[in-house]
Amino acid sequence: MRASHSRATWALGLLASRTTALLSKRELLDFNWTSVAPSEDLRYHDCYGGYKCARLQVPLDWTNTNDSQSQWVAIAIITLPATVSDSDPSFGGPVLVNPGGPSGSGAEMALDYGRYLQGVVDSGERHYEILGFDPRGTGWSTPRAECYGDDLSRLSDFVQRAGMPPATSPEGLPLHFQAAAGGVKLCAEAEKDSIFAHMSTASVARDMLEIVERADTLRRRNSTGDPSASGSPKQAKLQYLGFSYGSYLGNTFASMFPGRVGRLVVDGIADPDDFVRGDLKKNINDAEIVVNAFYRTCLEAGDLCLLRQARDKSAADVRRRVDAFIRSIEKAPVSAVHEGRVRLITSVLVRETIRQALYAPAYSAYGALSLALAGSLSGNQTLLLSADFTTLTNRKYTPLEYTWFVEAGMGVFCGDSAADAGTRDEAWARQAVAYYANQSFTTGEAWARLPLSCSGDWPFKPKYAFRGPFGSPAPGSKPADRAPAAPLLILSPRYDHATALANAYAMSRRHSGSAVVVQESTGHCALLTSSSECTRRIVREYFKSGKVPPNGTTCKEDCSPSIPFKSCPGLGI
Ligand SMILES: *[C@@H]1O[C@H](CO)[C@@H](O)[C@H](O)[C@H]1NC(C)=O
Ligand SMILES: *[C@@H]1O[C@H](CO)[C@@H](O)[C@H](O)[C@H]1NC(C)=O
Ligand SMILES: *[C@@H]1O[C@H](CO)[C@@H](O)[C@H](O)[C@H]1NC(C)=O
Ligand SMILES: *[C@@H]1O[C@H](CO)[C@@H](O)[C@H](O)[C@H]1NC(C)=O
Ligand SMILES: *[C@@H]1O[C@H](CO)[C@@H](O)[C@H](O)[C@H]1NC(C)=O
Ligand SMILES: *[C@@H]1O[C@H](CO)[C@@H](O)[C@H](O)[C@H]1NC(C)=O
Repeated sequence: MRASHSRATWALGLLASRTTALLSKRELLDFNWTSVAPSEDLRYHDCYGGYKCARLQVPLDWTNTNDSQSQWVAIAIITLPATVSDSDPSFGGPVLVNPGGPSGSGAEMALDYGRYLQGVVDSGERHYEILGFDPRGTGWSTPRAECYGDDLSRLSDFVQRAGMPPATSPEGLPLHFQAAAGGVKLCAEAEKDSIFAHMSTASVARDMLEIVERADTLRRRNSTGDPSASGSPKQAKLQYLGFSYGSYLGNTFASMFPGRVGRLVVDGIADPDDFVRGDLKKNINDAEIVVNAFYRTCLEAGDLCLLRQARDKSAADVRRRVDAFIRSIEKAPVSAVHEGRVRLITSVLVRETIRQALYAPAYSAYGALSLALAGSLSGNQTLLLSADFTTLTNRKYTPLEYTWFVEAGMGVFCGDSAADAGTRDEAWARQAVAYYANQSFTTGEAWARLPLSCSGDWPFKPKYAFRGPFGSPAPGSKPADRAPAAPLLILSPRYDHATALANAYAMSRRHSGSAVVVQESTGHCALLTSSSECTRRIVREYFKSGKVPPNGTTCKEDCSPSIPFKSCPGLGI
């Protein structure tokens, strides 16, 4: 689930693997966040050339909002202003965005995808601001959910784990279990009252409501000078675009505060009950279909795909050599010298590289992956080891990879699942790893790292939590203040290797009147990883009128993935 690199990785959905997150950190010097005092009112400061930034103060503990006792959290917000002034009749207010993770930075998403997303939601009649916020504990929000005292300690733990035998092997499993349980113990040394006890998705949903109300107050104060002029912030409604884990966040919001939903679009759907159980068994069920699409694209490219050999007759012929290579390094990794260091080429490294590339096939990832794998199979590991996909996918931007990304993700995911997961002992870990490996030969071993990160006993059980039931009544039903203003719009690619389409249908069943739009593409999330003017038109119409198309509507993608990469105009960014 994430991305350094591409919008693809971005939405990555659940956090698993961003190993490179530990290695790099972009300092954005244009704006000094510490120079801004957090405020209870939404107070914007100019930043990043054309954006506005704020630090919004909200209670640490939503079960105790008594001001005189409260501790506070400062939520970092970056907003791309609307293209009209906020007093213009066509001003549509903020659209909140979440990129997934669970610890992805929404603020950064507004910086990197803000203009693209604004182009998706804006119509002649309505002009929106794109408001990105860093969920508590993540990114520029404070306090930070970090367990290590410094980056070097984190990195050395990561390197230690990277050299272990695969979690899928009998000798590797206990090592991976112990290493993960050790990570949990390290985080457990944080105080009980630290941010870790208050990172539930329910708290983030409550924060979103607060952002919506305070943005509403700011706007009314701006246009009339009187914050209590017409209406109350208590009637303000959420407008939202959530990807991957962000679909679960949106689902949680709609289930907790159905009457406060204005427009809600989710894309790349995680199953909420599965997430609350900490299972993640409904994520990679379609992964091998996406893997095979890559090998088919390679076969069809002929000589232009270096991974293909002249005698190959089918995609399976191409695939067989890669699978054999993975099986061989599962038993005996090979070493390579890269940038003055010795690196082990392990099965999890190769699998994670493939998994990352599958996020956004419509970009240049397929070509990059074919080159990296062809090199690797013939003994040249240079591209594989630089395949951070930052370099390989040709994307313009390098997102912030704040270094405590994995710990922050644990704060959300292990906390949300703490009540229902049961005992996460070694037997549990063994069974879970076997399940993922059976679900997807290619991605299961890499995927397993996310659920395994909660091994042992996660000590922070959030008091402010929401564990279901998930669902919402139909728009227009009574009482009106418990019904969304518009039905939910649910997007998914046909084949998503990190969140399967079946989850989109299951979500729709519980949100009355909602509709699923299936984009005929592969990758993780529809809007971010492929170009479809049809999908964009549906989202634009929805924001304007609140109307969803018939449930089950399909949209073609404008260009198909190819090797070598052919650019596609609609891809934006
Ligand atoms: C940012 O602001 C803080 C507080 O005003 C100040 O102490 C710090 O030196 C500033 N950092 C930079 C890089 O300017
Ligand atoms: C808030 O906390 C203070 C100090 O503990 C207490 O005196 C006051 O009664 C509390 N207010 C409410 C509304 O609970
Ligand atoms: C409110 O007005 C101020 C001053 O005119 C402006 O800088 C700010 O961007 C406005 N706020 C919003 C939310 O547009
Ligand atoms: C290994 O691959 C890289 C990248 O394609 C290339 O630049 C380099 O020359 C290759 N090394 C050898 C020894 O062939
Ligand atoms: C592996 O997956 C197949 C097909 O989904 C299923 O029938 C089988 O029970 C699974 N085996 C294990 C050990 O989970
Ligand atoms: C949308 O279609 C799916 C798949 O047929 C179905 O399961 C779901 O219940 C439908 N949603 C609604 C709101 O009827």
